Amino acid sequence: MKTIYTLANLKIELDALLEKNKKTGLVPTMGALHNGHASLVRKAKTENDVVITTIFINPTQFNNPEDLIKYPRKEEEDKKLLEEIGCDILFMPNTEEIYQNYEFPGIDLGKLDTIMEGKQRPGHFIGVCQIVYRLFQITQPTNAYFGLKDFQQVAVIKYMTNYFKLPINIIACDTVREENGLAMSSRNLRLNETQKEDALILYSTLKFIQNNYQNSSPYQLKIDATHFFNQGNLSLEYLEIVNPETLEQLNDTWVAESIACIVASAGDIRLIDNLKIN
Ligand code: PAF
Repeated sequence: MKTIYTLANLKIELDALLEKNKKTGLVPTMGALHNGHASLVRKAKTENDVVITTIFINPTQFNNPEDLIKYPRKEEEDKKLLEEIGCDILFMPNTEEIYQNYEFPGIDLGKLDTIMEGKQRPGHFIGVCQIVYRLFQITQPTNAYFGLKDFQQVAVIKYMTNYFKLPINIIACDTVREENGLAMSSRNLRLNETQKEDALILYSTLKFIQNNYQNSSPYQLKIDATHFFNQGNLSLEYLEIVNPETLEQLNDTWVAESIACIVASAGDIRLIDNLKIN
């Protein structure tokens, strides 16, 4: 695996690849890699000639400065994992390098930016678009891989790709879970043992909705599931049952592949999860 830090060196590598007309798969990450990321890289390996993973903790998508400071970093382990699973290029720029001579054209995300994550984290998705657009511009991948744990992020990135008519396939990949159901997340590294136990309530609540949807409306089940969740020790930020296309809240009736989305905090650690209900 080649580890590259500068745009100039990345360009040299990519120019050679483009000449050879190779299919490239991009896996954008913020590091602190876990099995969820590894599954994206592995999938990218099977569908492309060359896999580029990026590690960049993008400051513009953190609306909470404390969260940025505390975001886990483990560069050496990340490199080792990526080597092991056969990543070809690791691009690890610093903030100056990636944002120099770049201006994001801007995008109106409409409703996507006013609900759930958009509502709770003002500016977050514009920051995500700003960096993902930049990474697309630099690497010009055939395929780009994102985890469905961040369901709304995938919707935003698909929207952005359509909006700018970028010739890139966005590949959404299933959430990878620990055996006990906890969705893998870089932030899990910050959980202590008690919080790890407490965090299981997220998946249990989603399963509660999945197990009961046939006997209840989304509106009623959201109330019941909130009650279920509140028996645990985490603090609920939101629980929404939404249409998978529009992300609009469901009230009276279920639609195909309705999604339940949940965000809660264990201390100051914000955890996110979702599940396809039907
Ligand atoms: O999902 C993430 O880790 C980040 O939001 C992404 C897509 C790498 C952009 O910084």
